[in-house]
Amino acid sequence: MYISTFSNMPRFQRIYWSEKFDWKEYSRLYDRYAKSSGNFYVQSASALIGSAPLKRDAKAIDLACGTGVLTSLLVEKYPKMGILGVDLSKEMLALYRRNFTGQIKTSQVKAMQGNAEKIGRMTKEKHDAVFINCALWDLEIEKTFSGIAKVLNKGGLLAFNLPSLVLGREKGFVSFIESFFRQELNSTAVYRRISMDYAKRALEKYGFWIESMKEYELRLSRQNIGLFFELLRYRWPFVFFPRGMQYEKKLELCKRIFDECYKHVPAGGMKDYGFSFVLRKK
Ligand SMILES: C[S@@+](CC[C@H](N)C(=O)[O-])C[C@H]1O[C@@H](n2cnc3c(N)ncnc32)[C@H](O)[C@@H]1O
Repeated sequence: MYISTFSNMPRFQRIYWSEKFDWKEYSRLYDRYAKSSGNFYVQSASALIGSAPLKRDAKAIDLACGTGVLTSLLVEKYPKMGILGVDLSKEMLALYRRNFTGQIKTSQVKAMQGNAEKIGRMTKEKHDAVFINCALWDLEIEKTFSGIAKVLNKGGLLAFNLPSLVLGREKGFVSFIESFFRQELNSTAVYRRISMDYAKRALEKYGFWIESMKEYELRLSRQNIGLFFELLRYRWPFVFFPRGMQYEKKLELCKRIFDECYKHVPAGGMKDYGFSFVLRKK
């Protein structure tokens, strides 16, 4: 059974909301991975920032900021930019705060815990841009767009990315992992797919138009993929496994599947593909 569909309101697993989710270990491994050379998140964030030019002193939100990959690149490129990082997880935010101690002291960076879908109620300040790097597929699209429309200035930018696979183009690194899990678990599940038509309707409904949409390519070394798998094994127990299975069992199976998958990663590494979207608020 396909868990998510191309219907108007795609269902997907709330992997980050489970009581079993191991935030302590996940956030530690995330921060380590996010600082590794040529990692998936930094390459995606870099393509996204490159497609959304801003004024030097713009005010931006890094929505679902994690431990701060995108914020780091923004701070480097725009030393005068004011940035608000928002994340659901207190453990991820603790590391975000540690990574930007200096910028928090000078109030260039602020951090706030909360559900990104409710950003419209979290701040009354208007911003010039909202970035969502590698996280929109974990969120309800309509609620998120509706909230963002409230915190953006007229003419402000919303920049987000989605893996090509989420948009229905079954290719690249994430597609490779999914197919491996499906085969090993004899399953037809997918994490989430979002149709381009649905995304376009949602963004028009909340007063945005597409300024640009670019496909980008990432290259991951075999070594980097090994490090990535150590992190992903904490996320995938919430995607492909039968609900009734014990968490510890899922984790163990997940590790075994990633170990097997790694054996098939070519020595030269792998490519992945995504789309950067830049929307402008009318
Ligand atoms: C794959 S990580 C991406 C983090 C960051 N944007 C980056 O590029 O490194 C996804 C992040 O989304 C956060 N997240 C998931 N659902 C969320 C929600 N409803 N509200 C806020 N953050 C959420 C998670 O806690 C996690 O930090």
